[in-house]
Amino acid sequence: KRVVLAYSGGLDTSVILKWLRETYDCEVVTFTADLGQGEELEPARAKAELMGVKPEHIFIDDLREEFVRDYVFPMMRANAHYEGLYLLGTSIARPLIAKRQIEIARMVGADAVSHGATGKGNDQVRFELGYYALAPDIKVIAPWREWDLTSRTKLIEYAEAHQIPVPKDKRGESPFSTDANLLHTSSEGKVLEDPGAEVPDYVYSRTVNPEDAPDTPEVIEIGFEAGDGVSINGQPLSPANLLASLNDYGRRHGIGRLDLVENRFVGMKSRGMYETPGGTIYAAAHRAIEQLTLDRGAAHLKDELMPRYAELIYNGFWFSPEREMLQAAIDHSQAKVAGSVRLKLYKGGVHVIGRTSPNSLYSEKVVTFEDDAGAYDQRDAAGFIKLNALRLRLLGRRDI
Ligand code: ARG
Ligand code: SIN
Repeated sequence: KRVVLAYSGGLDTSVILKWLRETYDCEVVTFTADLGQGEELEPARAKAELMGVKPEHIFIDDLREEFVRDYVFPMMRANAHYEGLYLLGTSIARPLIAKRQIEIARMVGADAVSHGATGKGNDQVRFELGYYALAPDIKVIAPWREWDLTSRTKLIEYAEAHQIPVPKDKRGESPFSTDANLLHTSSEGKVLEDPGAEVPDYVYSRTVNPEDAPDTPEVIEIGFEAGDGVSINGQPLSPANLLASLNDYGRRHGIGRLDLVENRFVGMKSRGMYETPGGTIYAAAHRAIEQLTLDRGAAHLKDELMPRYAELIYNGFWFSPEREMLQAAIDHSQAKVAGSVRLKLYKGGVHVIGRTSPNSLYSEKVVTFEDDAGAYDQRDAAGFIKLNALRLRLLGRRDI
């Protein structure tokens, strides 16, 4: 029996590795994804080797370009925000991890996959919906739902009893739980569990405090083609490099911090803190280029579909026919979404200050307050309003 484990190299997934072998008498294959979390991945390999995983059973893959190109950008085309605010940084990474894990399971002939998400959260759902969609008969092992290591202390005792190295700072309570990738860092739990208490400063890891950000604003220009970002300040960049560069700008100017109480799919509310520096800039720029290039009907329909689309991603239904249908509609709308957007970054704020497009629908000739030289006949508006008012007048005659 063989299991492919989504392995970070941290304490929890190392305990899981050992526990899987003990409980299921199986061979464990580890998979560690580089999604731009900004951590060295070689230590994960060393740790897996130390724990006796065969070198040919240690998979470490750089998925950064695929992540941004095939997951983040398509989601950004929809302007997706969950519950109005959350840019879905964790939610969008899970389907890719699940997909790669299943590919590896096929390669090594494994019959099971495993992950380190708890039984209380969204991530278990996202991983497992992904697994089942791509490998309907796969066996899923979710240790947090099965074992009796119900506390940090028990986890550490288990680690020590099994010669798993426990980092010094993990002996005490770890201060909170994080998940990071190129799009965002999320922090939940422990010191954040009281939604009435402000997030302590030390929880922030990838943005400066806006109060300490530079006193002079910085202006950048993002170029778009077919709904996707392609350049910054005229320099062409790959999707992952573009997002990484925006993350640097966002960090410096304290952009993209969010303190949120959200509804998890399983039914409970949770309080989290997100830092989405580059993604926040990108989302503002994408909206701005759509303002110029999308027809009202298309734009408003997209806005109606967006909450549904965002909820599908949040709830883990990336690999579902309804998400793919919505994606097809969203992608179709993006053909002419091209041009460039200038933004001013200043003390936590992203401010659009200009946009231009070869496909602009904006007509200064029509909209001008000055003489429009016959581009628009104001007399047409009288009948337009009269007919729109007809029902209101009939109602008024009856009811006033
Ligand atoms: N609540 C976020 C989501 O469901 C983040 C979950 C993972 N974050 C974490 N800190 N463990 O997408
Ligand atoms: C977890 O429960 O593992 C993290 C939080 C979540 O998935 O919502």
